[in-house]
Amino acid sequence: MSTPALFVPIRFRGVTFRNRLWVAPMTMFTAEDRDGMPSSFHHVHVAGLALSGAGAVIVENAAVAPGGRVTPQDIGLWNDDQWDAWRPTTAFAREYGARIGIQLGHGGRKASTARSWEPQAGTLPESAGGWQPVGPSAVPYAGYATPRALAADEIPGTVDAFVAAALRARDAGFEFVEFHAAHGFLLHQFLSPLANTRRDDWGGSLANRARLLLAVIRRTRAAVGDAFPLFVRVSATDWTPDGWDEDDTAIVTRWAVDAGADFFDVSTGGMVPDATIPVFPGYQVGFAERLRDATGVPVGAVGLITTPQQAEEIVAGGHADVALVGREFLRDPRFGLRAAVALGADIDYHPLPYHRAKHRLEASLTSV
Ligand SMILES: Cc1cc2nc3c(=O)[nH]c(=O)nc-3n(C[C@H](O)[C@H](O)[C@H](O)COP(=O)(O)O)c2cc1C
Repeated sequence: MSTPALFVPIRFRGVTFRNRLWVAPMTMFTAEDRDGMPSSFHHVHVAGLALSGAGAVIVENAAVAPGGRVTPQDIGLWNDDQWDAWRPTTAFAREYGARIGIQLGHGGRKASTARSWEPQAGTLPESAGGWQPVGPSAVPYAGYATPRALAADEIPGTVDAFVAAALRARDAGFEFVEFHAAHGFLLHQFLSPLANTRRDDWGGSLANRARLLLAVIRRTRAAVGDAFPLFVRVSATDWTPDGWDEDDTAIVTRWAVDAGADFFDVSTGGMVPDATIPVFPGYQVGFAERLRDATGVPVGAVGLITTPQQAEEIVAGGHADVALVGREFLRDPRFGLRAAVALGADIDYHPLPYHRAKHRLEASLTSV
């Protein structure tokens, strides 16, 4: 029996991933006491996903600085208590063979908002636990507070915060990190001319707008060494004229590879609230495929991938190297195991305590 393409391992630097069906990063907005610490919800949730059959679990966006949290309940990796708290969970994931990584980000002008299920729109005021957001320029995301433009001499400190968070992630037992340069958050804000109107070395030309992301990658690569994979989530387009687009993404992706990045997780949007986005199953797959065609880099596709057959077709058809799945893993936290059965993949990592549930027609229920 041949192995389905989705279940063929893939290697990045020193890390082999057992398959190409990965859990996309998803913020759970449940950090304890609003101090960036993971809660028991996080530990149960992430450990459960490690049993899902996925090849990798990318833990939600962790803020590299307190002001970079998108909500007060976001997790962070800006201090040593935070990394230490993750160690039992990363050890558990590794024991069950799911590669565990974490996304690192900064909300920039979209920081300090309410959780997605809460009614408050826009920037949370200080009276409600919010803070003054920062950004590349004093240009607000529509409907949000005007950010304070970062001074040029503050930007190297932001790079340092990303590097320090990546080192904490590695010390916590995470096996790779993904930089969040998508969805209209700080790294994407620097890239996009819609949010970055600076006239210094950090704005203007594409090279200047990419300087922050590239510095983060280059400095982190130097700090973590050669074996540790560095991934980047990009928004391949702002979905609006005059915004960041696919050609920009391809150019900066090549520079990012030269700086030490290994894999690109291709999403879109997040820069403007009123973009018209044609949404259908697999609607972002073409962006991943075109980025790989233009650059030759390994890419992941994400967005409305909900069935094993669809994920298999994306990888087997050569459209992307990895299928990342978000919400379907929330609906069915064993989606990877279900996909293995559905596609006839003979995996040796069905968790042993669950072995009697592997096939629906397993005979006896009477022995226990
Ligand atoms: C609850 C929730 C939280 C999310 N949090 C993040 C996040 O922290 N970082 C990120 O890059 N994307 C985040 N996303 C986007 C997902 O990673 C994914 O790109 C999106 O949900 C589309 O994939 P899907 O259709 O498989 O869910 C989140 C999505 C959901 C539903």
